[in-house]
Amino acid sequence: MGAEQSIERMTATQITAKKAEGAKIVCLTAYDYPSALVCDAAGVDLVLVGDSLGNVIHGEATTLRVTMDDMLYHTRIVERALKRAMLVGDMPFLSFSLGETEAVRNAGKFVVCGAQGVKLEWQPGIERVVKAIADAGIPVMGHLGLTPQAIHRIGGFRVQGRDAAQAELMLREAGRIERAGAFAIVLELVPTELARRITEAVKIPTIGIGAGPHTDGQILVFHDMLGLTPGKKLKHVKRYLDGFEAMKKAVGEYSGEVRGGKFPGAEHGFN
Ligand code: KIV
Repeated sequence: MGAEQSIERMTATQITAKKAEGAKIVCLTAYDYPSALVCDAAGVDLVLVGDSLGNVIHGEATTLRVTMDDMLYHTRIVERALKRAMLVGDMPFLSFSLGETEAVRNAGKFVVCGAQGVKLEWQPGIERVVKAIADAGIPVMGHLGLTPQAIHRIGGFRVQGRDAAQAELMLREAGRIERAGAFAIVLELVPTELARRITEAVKIPTIGIGAGPHTDGQILVFHDMLGLTPGKKLKHVKRYLDGFEAMKKAVGEYSGEVRGGKFPGAEHGFN
């Protein structure tokens, strides 16, 4: 990790301050060097090495098999590409559930790999873990709404907080996470009106994914917004590129040219 890089990158304090400034916070996931280079060059504020890498990189149906080793490997790679964006590592399934000591130790491993903060999905009593990690000097992002690590309890990838009791619980938990010292909260698949209420209730920024336009920032999965997850139909995602078709076309052209003797041309050879 270059010292210059870490000094010039956005910090948790700057991300939090954007809420008071009224500036929307732009976040994306990245898992490798080229995707992180693209995010940084395009001016993304915060890059999350999400455990969604289990889905989009490993081709798994859930994030449950993603390990600390997987996350640290990808965090190290992404860190090398970032000059400006803040880097947050996503703590995988069970890496923060066995007690505060274990959680702080694992969060510290992300920092050693170049992350400037960690994200934790909600579970009962999460505020104690958030506090322990934040007290250790590591910025923490909360994560409410759909928490894919709890997929077996939730029973499906669906919008959370639709009934009044669930909505009140989410509001209360957002306040607890804020008081425990988090610098931001992700709201995933939350009804627009509830996301607005949570955003107004807390001083730290909310970062929405499928949570409507009123959150302080937005995050999407890199491969989803670039059309690299064909066959996945996600209402909350806007596809800015049909990356799969564009790449398939290019690979098809290459194949045709190799088979037709058109590539390599004379200009690609060496005398
Ligand atoms: O793992 C991930 O990519 C995430 C985002 C969807 C917020 O948690």
